Amino acid sequence: MDFPIFHLDFAGNRMLIAGIAVLHVMINHALAVGAIPLVTMMELHGARHHRPDWDRLAYRTLAVCFIITTSVGALTGVGIWFATSLVNPAAIGSLIRVFFGAWFVEWIVFCLEVIAIMAYFLSWKRMGQRHKRAHIALGAALSVLSWLTLAIIVAILSFMMEPGSWLARRSFLSGVFNPLYLPQLAFRTPVAMLAAGLFAVGLAFFLTRSERELRAQAVRLLSAWILAWTPFALAGGLWYRARVPGWMRANVPVALTTQAYQGWYRDVAVALAAMAIAVLLIAAWGALAPRRLPRAVLVLPFALVLVMLGSFERVREFIRKPFVIANYMYANGIRADVVPLLQEDGVLAHATYVSSRTITPANREEAGRELFLICCTRCHTTSGVNSVLAKLTNLYGPRPWDRNVVKGYLRTMHTVRPYMPPFPGTEEEAGAVADYLLALRRMPAELDGAQTAGVRVPADVAAAPGSR
Ligand code: HEC
Repeated sequence: MDFPIFHLDFAGNRMLIAGIAVLHVMINHALAVGAIPLVTMMELHGARHHRPDWDRLAYRTLAVCFIITTSVGALTGVGIWFATSLVNPAAIGSLIRVFFGAWFVEWIVFCLEVIAIMAYFLSWKRMGQRHKRAHIALGAALSVLSWLTLAIIVAILSFMMEPGSWLARRSFLSGVFNPLYLPQLAFRTPVAMLAAGLFAVGLAFFLTRSERELRAQAVRLLSAWILAWTPFALAGGLWYRARVPGWMRANVPVALTTQAYQGWYRDVAVALAAMAIAVLLIAAWGALAPRRLPRAVLVLPFALVLVMLGSFERVREFIRKPFVIANYMYANGIRADVVPLLQEDGVLAHATYVSSRTITPANREEAGRELFLICCTRCHTTSGVNSVLAKLTNLYGPRPWDRNVVKGYLRTMHTVRPYMPPFPGTEEEAGAVADYLLALRRMPAELDGAQTAGVRVPADVAAAPGSR
């Protein structure tokens, strides 16, 4: 409401964030947070047993991680903040208010991490065997820094899911130590280690083509690493699951499969569990009889883990709906405590970037369009992904819709579908949105965000002293 609305009408705004964020999590967990301690362990193993071939394998594994994390990893990391600031500036604003200090520390730790990974990778050969201990210590320090960036960001992620006592206390520490923080950290840490192990096993397939013996030893050690972290991941996952509030758990079926396919929820859940078991069986096979494991099987577990990680992030992002910060701010950037005021005064009366503050017979559809942009487009497009026209057609069929029925639906949408926020405006504004949706159906048109349509302000704002 206080910012121009950025909108992508085909893929949707959620997809923009999800695409960047899921890619980032995969790279961050598997190739940084988990991979750095794993590579350090491989380096240590090579040094202890005087095995230059192990040292080479560790170095090459690091080379791949280094290239991907410092390019795609770093860009998607920054990209998340660009994309989320465009899509939901109000939510990012709230997070900055609560986590200002944490963000500042995060930035410093991130810079140190980048410097440390440069030093660790670029000095590997130069430090050679003579300074091996110092080099391994550098790997250990880098491992701590990578984990610290995760530990800080997880505080923010878990806060968005469940701010807990912060809602009453409003202090930094109550925000950081929200009810989901430690469980989520206890889950993500071993998952990162696991994912790194699986990535390294898959990579060994390519890096040890002519060295059968080395590959067998690597698969055995990496499989042991994977199996060692598994109980921690399981325990962390159960702790995390137990702490997720009941109303969020009720969202899981739609989160995993969408509303249309939620009947398949159990099948999808069973498929994910089967993937996890398959991964563990392959790891057990690798630990016990690495020579008998077909080479092609080495790549499979990592692919499965990417599917599982992607599903986990999708569910985690979805289940806090209708909120972006649970019980505090709705996904459309409107704070829960101002909704009664807006329902009384109207959204237009308090919005900065609309063309008019009042609804007249002449501007009904235009006002409805602006209200739809503010209230609905963080989650819906007109005709693309999660299209509002398709949803309404599901509900009311192919014949012309009744304006009052659509308007009535808007007034109760949060009770029918608890993952949607209440309509924040007045009855008249709900009518204007219904008018817009009916007009849109008669003549579908792409809905432009402020990035293409430009920014509009009402006459009183335009005429105010100091504005252009
Ligand atoms: C927090 C995100 C969010 C917001 C904001 C939101 N919706 Fe939804 N809406 C959803 C989701 C998710 C679905 C279900 C999608 C699916 O899986 O099919 C949905 C479903 C719907 C449906 C179909 C419901 C049914 O019973 O089948 C309609 C109609 C709809 N939304 C209209 C709107 C309108 C109009 C607005 C703005 C006033 C709005 N939504 C705001 C997330 C949202």
